[in-house]
Amino acid sequence: VHQALRIGLAGFGNIGTAFVRFLQEQHDRIDARYAMPLELRWVCTRNPKRRRSVAPPPTAKRSSDFLDIVRDPDVDVVVELIGGVNDARTFVTAALEAGKDVITANKALLAECGPELALLAQAKGVRLLFEAAVGAGIPIIRSIETGLLSNRIVSLHGIINGTTNYILTRMVDRRGASFAEMLDEASRLGYAEPDPSLDVDGYDAAHKLAVLAALCFGQHVRASDIRIEGIRHVTPEDINWGTIQGLSLKLLASARLRDDGKLHLSVAPSYIPEAHPLAAVRGVTNGIAIEAEPCGVVFLSGAGAGGGSTVTGLMSDLADIAAQRAAGGRGGKALLSLAAGSRGKIARAQIQPDCCLRVTHPEVPLHVNRLERRLKGECVERGASDATYLIPEMKSSAMERALGTLDDLGLDSGRRSKVDFALGSRNLVDADFKK
Ligand code: HSE
Repeated sequence: VHQALRIGLAGFGNIGTAFVRFLQEQHDRIDARYAMPLELRWVCTRNPKRRRSVAPPPTAKRSSDFLDIVRDPDVDVVVELIGGVNDARTFVTAALEAGKDVITANKALLAECGPELALLAQAKGVRLLFEAAVGAGIPIIRSIETGLLSNRIVSLHGIINGTTNYILTRMVDRRGASFAEMLDEASRLGYAEPDPSLDVDGYDAAHKLAVLAALCFGQHVRASDIRIEGIRHVTPEDINWGTIQGLSLKLLASARLRDDGKLHLSVAPSYIPEAHPLAAVRGVTNGIAIEAEPCGVVFLSGAGAGGGSTVTGLMSDLADIAAQRAAGGRGGKALLSLAAGSRGKIARAQIQPDCCLRVTHPEVPLHVNRLERRLKGECVERGASDATYLIPEMKSSAMERALGTLDDLGLDSGRRSKVDFALGSRNLVDADFKK
């Protein structure tokens, strides 16, 4: 065993820079606490010319060819921060083939190819670790992998995209602030993906949910299994309406085992009752509530994006590998490999039983009267604002009838099943009709 753990870093953007800075600034603490010293051997980046706020140590080799790391027999562990799927997949596959441990923060890669890569790691007797890929520094992967391993997990509800939560929180704090302004702010702070539509359209949260669901439920979940709705269409009115009702609007990722054994998966803007701990998760913070048997509900929360938090996740994987190697061990059962062969029954989220319908329309009283007549006996409640009506506790069949009725009435629906009320007893389907 070499006396240091030799690291090859691929990707030197926001997170790569924070990682290199951390290794330099926290050198003493790492030396004191880690089972072996860490040595940064390679820093590879596609844009070597770009100015960065930190310089790698002179002992680290530089290259713009990621495969230089793979070809170097003196690299023990690769830290993949390239992002995206295609190049990252080629690179990680080559690194595992070459017998290197791999640490990645790449949730898109894991959602797409996690099981395949995990099986390869297992076959090669190396590790594939990804604590930073979900919730950044929140130790969510290890909590599921070890803390809750003995339990049966029933459901997971999480705010797992920092950018969208930042935008929604700022829209509450700065009443009337526009979506676009808040997104710019989140990008400036380094929270958003290089392509921020991954954040705002819900795909980043779906990638993370696919990883968590595979770990929690032991089956291969693809992003395409998940009903995904982002926050692009959320308006300040939606947020204010929730505030008046005592509900907080969040982009919620949910995975739940239904009574019929199917896994129910969704990412959607959701109203959360203020009493629920997820409602208090603000800004770039992430929060994840896991319901496990017999443990009960476990709730984890912390910064879900940004350099400091993401580096914490990477460092925790490095600590794990250092400890294993110092003890003379290598490889082991790969996380996610459990999920590789297994495709259980997956239910794409539909409108759930116990819905309520919010109808917003200038002529809403008229339409609600007609609706009431058509729905025969479903109770219709007047909402907080004049043009808003709530039909609580609807069965999904009634919801379909209600939406059909509104369509029949000739309202051009632009029908948005925007809002899931996933944590309360109801789903809320918002039909915002414009004539
Ligand atoms: N863009 C991601 C987010 C970064 O906002 O959560 C952390 O994965």
